[in-house]
Amino acid sequence: MKEDLNDQDYYLEVEAPHVTKHWKPGQFVIIMTHEKGERVPLSVATINGGRVGMFIKKLGKTSVELYREFRVGSSLYAVSGPLGKPLKLEDYGTVVLASDAVCGHAEQLGLAQELAKLGNKVISIQTFKTEKEVYPEKYLTTKYADEHYITTLDGTAGYKGHYIDLLRELVARREVKAVFAGGALASLKKLAEATAGLDAKVYALVRTIMVDGTGMCGSCRVRYNGVIAYACRDGPWFDARLVDWDDVLRRDARFKKIEKIALEKYLA
Ligand code: FES
Repeated sequence: MKEDLNDQDYYLEVEAPHVTKHWKPGQFVIIMTHEKGERVPLSVATINGGRVGMFIKKLGKTSVELYREFRVGSSLYAVSGPLGKPLKLEDYGTVVLASDAVCGHAEQLGLAQELAKLGNKVISIQTFKTEKEVYPEKYLTTKYADEHYITTLDGTAGYKGHYIDLLRELVARREVKAVFAGGALASLKKLAEATAGLDAKVYALVRTIMVDGTGMCGSCRVRYNGVIAYACRDGPWFDARLVDWDDVLRRDARFKKIEKIALEKYLA
């Protein structure tokens, strides 16, 4: 099953019972379209029987190719997982979930359900650039959260601003005990700065460039609490305030040029 979420993002559901049987919130999958294709790490948005649902942005060659050329009934070369460490969730009290991009929006769906089950009061904030980019209701966290906020950068829907602006307001008024945020890495750096003095657990989804996804290649290296960790094996969720975000951002920029060339070649 494939469905548009907005102009850029789409939902893809694939048969992968080997993943759904063992998956826990926090874990991810790596997909490959072809034997020699790129390995793309993706967050799990939904588990539907033996099917895994993912949110994907048409950003690089593989994601565009997958959108254009794979139809219902097509097969992917591989869907590996579940990978990464599951989050150890508990009843924290009031929890904020925040996201501003595909991977973060996807993670929110599973997290909101699990945190609510554990007894937490769940506040969800989902940021989009503009009203036109807001996902269809069924792909938002609305029905799983006690409070759900949309924010748009231009103010065309919901609160005007970024999730960090609204989060600052919320924590000034409420006793928030845990924050889980995912999406743009630059926003997560800001989140770590904005919550520096907050008496709460603050977790960030560190979605780095990955190859094997098992801790062997070193591609997803993260400087964490003064030591080297691997996002695929030790994460992908980390305490946001212990991550060296400048290093994460620098490493993330490594392949931007090559990715751009690969997409241009594919589209030519
Ligand atoms: Fe290779 Fe994490 S993807 S070490």
